[in-house]
Amino acid sequence: MGTAKSHDALATPAGTGNNRAMELHRETEADGWEVEALFDTCFAPGRTALSSYRLRDGVPPARDLCLVARGAAGEVAGAIRFWPVCVGPHSAMLLGPVAVHPTRQGEGLGAFLLQSGLDRAAVGGVARVLLVGDASYYGRFGFRRLRGVTMPPPTNPDRVLGVWDWDGIAGSVTRAV
Ligand SMILES: CC(C)(COP(=O)(O)OP(=O)(O)OC[C@H]1O[C@@H](n2cnc3c(N)ncnc32)[C@H](O)[C@@H]1OP(=O)(O)O)[C@@H](O)C(=O)NCCC(=O)NCCS
Repeated sequence: MGTAKSHDALATPAGTGNNRAMELHRETEADGWEVEALFDTCFAPGRTALSSYRLRDGVPPARDLCLVARGAAGEVAGAIRFWPVCVGPHSAMLLGPVAVHPTRQGEGLGAFLLQSGLDRAAVGGVARVLLVGDASYYGRFGFRRLRGVTMPPPTNPDRVLGVWDWDGIAGSVTRAV
């Protein structure tokens, strides 16, 4: 999947203001702690205790799809990660976490990260992507409520959303082995 070198600049958002100076890179191990710090800033404490994190335990992320946006001074402004999972016998890609630093939110960077990650997933042959989130935000990227696809409890089923080929796919979401 993908042929880009691990830390080549992939693209620059075509947005305005701060986004003009933004560069998008594939996440490397060296980025890891800064990305974790961003997620700690953007999510409630205890985020890693969420049941969705159990799907990631011991499973490497889909590294070609994990992206970091850095501002002009090199600071991490946003990041997105993807993990392979299974839904019954089918493979799928779990999108998340995705976060934009509070000082950069509302400038289109979240949309840029999401669209860039989804574009790379499509090019890489990913058939279906799911996430746990607000339909009012993710609907603009084509995500719809997935009926019959169950995340580990206590996930709210209304927040289990998917995009692309989910026809006939149902069952529990489990760790990729
Ligand atoms: C969600 C998030 C990644 C969006 O990034 P962003 O750069 O602010 O998003 P964009 O600038 O592309 O889009 C902003 C729009 O999304 C809307 N939006 C943001 N979060 C939303 C949510 N949870 N539900 C509904 N709409 C939302 C904003 O109101 C704004 O709407 P508008 O276009 O009508 O003005 C960012 O707000 C964030 O990091 N939030 C905290 C972490 C989080 O909740 N991550 C997602 C769950 S994994």
